Amino acid sequence: MKVLVIGNGAREHALAWKILQSPRVSDVYALPGNAGTASIARNISLPLSDIPSIIKKSLELRIDLVVVGPEAPLAAGIVDRFQETGIPAFGPSGAAARLESSKLFARELMQKHGIPCAEGKSFSDYPKAREYLEKQSAPIVVKADGLAAGKGVTVAGTLEEALKALDSIMQARIFGAAGDSVIIEECLVGKEVSLLAFTDGKTTVPMVPACDYKRVFDGDKGPNTGGMGSYSPPGFFGKAMIKQVLNTIIKPTIDAMAKAGYPYQGVLYTGLIMTTGGPKVLEYNARFGDPETQAILPRLKTDLVAIMLAVIDGTLDKLAIQWDADPCVGVVIASGGYPGNYESGLPISISAKLEEDVSIFYAGAINSSDGRVVTDGGRVLTVTASATTMQGARDKVYRNIPHISFKGCHYRKDIALREVS
Ligand code: AMP
Ligand code: GLY
Repeated sequence: MKVLVIGNGAREHALAWKILQSPRVSDVYALPGNAGTASIARNISLPLSDIPSIIKKSLELRIDLVVVGPEAPLAAGIVDRFQETGIPAFGPSGAAARLESSKLFARELMQKHGIPCAEGKSFSDYPKAREYLEKQSAPIVVKADGLAAGKGVTVAGTLEEALKALDSIMQARIFGAAGDSVIIEECLVGKEVSLLAFTDGKTTVPMVPACDYKRVFDGDKGPNTGGMGSYSPPGFFGKAMIKQVLNTIIKPTIDAMAKAGYPYQGVLYTGLIMTTGGPKVLEYNARFGDPETQAILPRLKTDLVAIMLAVIDGTLDKLAIQWDADPCVGVVIASGGYPGNYESGLPISISAKLEEDVSIFYAGAINSSDGRVVTDGGRVLTVTASATTMQGARDKVYRNIPHISFKGCHYRKDIALREVS
């Protein structure tokens, strides 16, 4: 089989790496890919927004399976376009991807079906939103409705900060049309966890849970990023809790989507917060999470391609999905200055052979014209390590990271620390 992976993050490098382990697969292509996918697959240089050219190229290459990583092409209906051409594509339709691309849509669905989430209100009218917000008290959360590359949410510690966020979304329109509507909701407190699930719309199978670290600095300090690290499994989120979330949140969501006329297939990512009142939904994503995927896929024992084909064929009930018990820890190495301004084009050096069960998944890294791997983004790569214990995985990842460097690089030192101390 020839498989095309769409996207260029560390998530897509990890997906391509796992897909290549399938005995069914002969060739993997990445579009546009990065230096990591170039080392194991063939990169195709096309912009993610050019869906007609992506389809044309896939037909030319006789692709047998397409795997879509990022949210933007999903929301733009790339899976629907592939279906029209008869090429099997893994991921939800554009209409179903609204669970991620419209927080309003997601909130209405949750409220209608009694799925636990934060109390809140939505507004498409700026004066009304402002009037409402002025009467609230901090902390409070302001969210842009649409896709904002993970930057659309402000957890405001003061009312002033919340009003500023509202103004930037609805007045300055920093996220464009994604800020036509906003949600203002209560600030929930608790540990966060990501539970991803494979679903064919009828059968839903959870993956192993993972935690993401969004803030740039140790101790959850500094601004939010695309994610600075992840680990799996979190000790505080055991089998009973997975079952509870599956039965009270994830399955009801999938059923509600089918009932509403938007059957959901692919991966559903549920971002949860463990409040004193039980687990509540923070967000849905219509795809694999980044950096969670880098810590989850090394634990998957079942053929990922077999799972994806079963999702597409609606035969997920026939498959037993198995996971390795060994924990995995992933640490993101970022460019100096990220998430603010940073330099690109810096050579990445690897000074020693990395230990067994240590992987590098590249993100913002490309091959320069002189054949070197150079930085090309804020989050440059994820290093993962697996071991029989979380302590072992954590020690191993931090023992190997010093061999990987580029000018100004930085990373968090506390990924999975709370699991071992
Ligand atoms: P999102 O972009 O929806 O993933 O939200 C980004 C982050 O904002 C989440 O991972 C949480 O850390 C935080 N967040 C979102 N909604 C809330 C809320 N209602 N209460 C507290 N934190 C929140
Ligand atoms: N880790 C959060 C996300 O993938 O959106």
